[in-house]
Amino acid sequence: MEKKMIISGKIEETRNQIKEWKRQGLSVGLVPTMGYLHEGHRSLMEAARRENDKVAVSIFVNPIQFGPGEDFASYPRDLDKDAALCESIGVDLVFHPEASEMYDEGFCTYVDMDGLTKELCGRSRPTHFRGVQTVVSKLFHIIPADRAYFGQKDAQQLAVVRRMVRDMSMDIEIVGCPIIREQDGLAKSSRNTYLNDEERQAALVLSRSLAEGRKLVEAGERDTAAIKKCIAEVIGQEKLARIDYVEIVDFSDITPIDSLQDAKEGEALCAIAVYIGKTRLIDNFIFHVS
Ligand code: PAF
Repeated sequence: MEKKMIISGKIEETRNQIKEWKRQGLSVGLVPTMGYLHEGHRSLMEAARRENDKVAVSIFVNPIQFGPGEDFASYPRDLDKDAALCESIGVDLVFHPEASEMYDEGFCTYVDMDGLTKELCGRSRPTHFRGVQTVVSKLFHIIPADRAYFGQKDAQQLAVVRRMVRDMSMDIEIVGCPIIREQDGLAKSSRNTYLNDEERQAALVLSRSLAEGRKLVEAGERDTAAIKKCIAEVIGQEKLARIDYVEIVDFSDITPIDSLQDAKEGEALCAIAVYIGKTRLIDNFIFHVS
C-alpha cells in the first residue's frame, strides 16, 4: 500500500505522530523551512531521507524573524507546490502551522544569544536571529528529531543554531549541507524570485566576487583585509549592487579575524550580503585552514 504524507497544522497532532514513531524506535530527520521550496531545500530533504527512517519538513514563514519594513508580507508562498515536492522526495510529515498556532496570545518567551548574532546579518537585522532561534527551538520541541538539516548558504544561521544546541544541551544533531547554485553560480534562494531580468544578471556578482576572493586565498593570501578588498572591488563594478557587508569571520564564533590562520577551529567564513536593487542577497564560502 502506498504511504500517505501527513500534512498537519497542529502542534499536538504533529507531536503525537513523532512520539509514535519514536515509540516504534524510528529515527526522525527534520528540515525546517519557510516554504517556497527550491533545489537547496531539496538537497536538505534528500539528505534527511537518506539518513533517517522518517522525515519531517516544517513550512512556516516565521513572522518574528522579520524586522519592520522587511519582506514578511511579500515572502513567496505556495503550499501545494511545496507539498508536491515533499511528497516526491518521500517526506513523511509536513508541519504547516498558522502563526496563531505557534505564537498564541500572550506569547512573550524568546531565545536570544550574546555572541554570534551581532556581526554580519545581525548588524542590519538586529532582531532576526532572536526570531530564528525562538522558532527553531520551538520546532525542536514540537518535533524532537534525531537530526536537523540546515543549508550552508545561511552560514551564520547554521553557526547560531549549532551554538544554541550546544549551549542549551539540546539532544539533536545539526547537519550542515552545501550551498546549491544555479548553473551560472547564483546561490539558490526563495528571494531570487524578487529579481527582474536585469537584476538577475547583476546578482551574479555575488558568486563572481567570492570566486575572485577564493582564487586569492588559493594563491596563498591569508590577510583578510586584502581578500575583502578584492571581493568589494568586484562588487563595486556592478552598478545595480550595493554592499551591506563583506566580512571574514571565525566560523565557530562569528568574530572578525585579521588572518585566515586565526580561525580557532580551522574554519574561516567569508560572507557577503549585497543589495541588488531592493533585494538583499547573501552568499559565502568557508575556507578550511590547514
Ligand atoms: O532558513 C530558514 O528558512 C529559516 O530561517 C528557518 C530556519 C526555517 C527558521 O524560520
